[in-house]
Amino acid sequence: MVSRVIPVDTFDLVIFGGTGDLARRKILPGLFRRFLAGQMPPDARVVGAARAELDSASYRDLIAKSIAEFGGPEAKDEEGLAAFLTRLDYVAIDANGVNGWTKLANMMHSDVVRAFYFSVAPSLFGALAERLHQHGIANAESRIVVEKPFGRDLASAHALNETLAAHFNEGQIYRIDHYLGKETVQNLMAVRFGNVLFEPLWNNHFVDHIQITVAETVGVGGRGGYYDKSGAMRDMVQNHLMQLLCLIAMEPPSQFDANAVRDEKLKVIRALQPVEAHHIVRGQYDSTATEKSYREDAENPRSFTESFVAMKVQIANWRWAGVPFYLRTGKKMRARSSEIAVVFKDLGHSIFEGDISRHRNILSIRLQPNEGIDLQVTIKEPGPGGMRLIDVPLDMTFADALGDHAGEVSDAYERLIMDVIRGNQTLFMRGDEVEAAWKWVDPIIAGWEARNDVPKLYDMGSSGPDDALMLMHRDGRRWREIKG
Ligand code: BG6
Repeated sequence: MVSRVIPVDTFDLVIFGGTGDLARRKILPGLFRRFLAGQMPPDARVVGAARAELDSASYRDLIAKSIAEFGGPEAKDEEGLAAFLTRLDYVAIDANGVNGWTKLANMMHSDVVRAFYFSVAPSLFGALAERLHQHGIANAESRIVVEKPFGRDLASAHALNETLAAHFNEGQIYRIDHYLGKETVQNLMAVRFGNVLFEPLWNNHFVDHIQITVAETVGVGGRGGYYDKSGAMRDMVQNHLMQLLCLIAMEPPSQFDANAVRDEKLKVIRALQPVEAHHIVRGQYDSTATEKSYREDAENPRSFTESFVAMKVQIANWRWAGVPFYLRTGKKMRARSSEIAVVFKDLGHSIFEGDISRHRNILSIRLQPNEGIDLQVTIKEPGPGGMRLIDVPLDMTFADALGDHAGEVSDAYERLIMDVIRGNQTLFMRGDEVEAAWKWVDPIIAGWEARNDVPKLYDMGSSGPDDALMLMHRDGRRWREIKG
């Protein structure tokens, strides 16, 4: 299979927070891979901007080290790396002051796409946006990229939207949710809307329920300060899980275009029913003899923040009325495994002996690891001895099915950054979507706070607290096993 690189226009990309963790781990290694793939036009430039007083040479050294550490196997390409580094510059800048802005203005090329990545605390967004205009650096064609957390509730998200809107229009603002850049997440749309098979079954006549699991093995060590004020609901559910839910549940957009897709996602969020308290389980990981508990990792012995959430969600529209969506996410779980499973209804009547309701068609979309799609079908068990039924997977693991091309199941960031340069907002969240998501999440968190809800402890390496299992058992269903 031949790998295709779609050229993009030449660009100046300025990364505010250019020495930070995200820039060093994700953004620059991602750009380096795009460079190696031949997607970075000859004049394209990347400018790191941060407070540290560095010159461009020392910035290049810093990024060379980061790429060696986080760049994957491609980082071994020394010639490629040296060539990529010549595209980097650095400016020491004061977001709230005057230092560095004239220098940055002088670095910009004319007639190229200008993109500004705000990889900084949201409290700096306003100052950066203002100065970019004051110094004539941003124009009506420029794009800005902003990261989560996009607010911590509806009010703060709305305020951030207003701050950005004072300087940029919605078509210039790219709110990243890196889950939307994952290969399999996009494949979810390809599977739904590129095949005749699934869409006719994608509704409450045929679907029994849907499970979305994002399980991680990592804890919060190292970022406990941020996480303890956030918790799994704000850190994972309000954005990543809700985006997955939207893509799986939305109506077919009339075309694959940014606003058509985002309009449909917004309708899903608006149709979400309020969640009853007994339909949510919060958890917090406990210690083991050798590993620290959540509270120790977060350095907050009285923390009630959740590192796990499981919930049952209903969408009040014609397509999904009566079909529960079970969502769960947690840290320090049995395996790193993210999956969406569409569990179809049983047959209702069987011509075969035995309990046919045990056999289900399940379409599972594996986000990570082993990206792929698997359809469970029921067949006859081979061999003599009558008609015994078994369930087998029709499994398409992308790495097997796509051979060399599977290498392109690349990091979400590099895809999303190239989309910014192309001016394609389909995989970015619109302001109204983010606000609608907070509007749904806010009362859930407010309920916990009002009740002083205490998360249930769960063992590390487990599937979360027992109550989460009960959430499904009560409905006569069970979670799929978390397998790495
Ligand atoms: C981030 C969260 O957005 O996503 C982290 O802040 C989480 O807490 C991470 O670990 C998970 O991303 P991925 O791509 O590793 O599944």
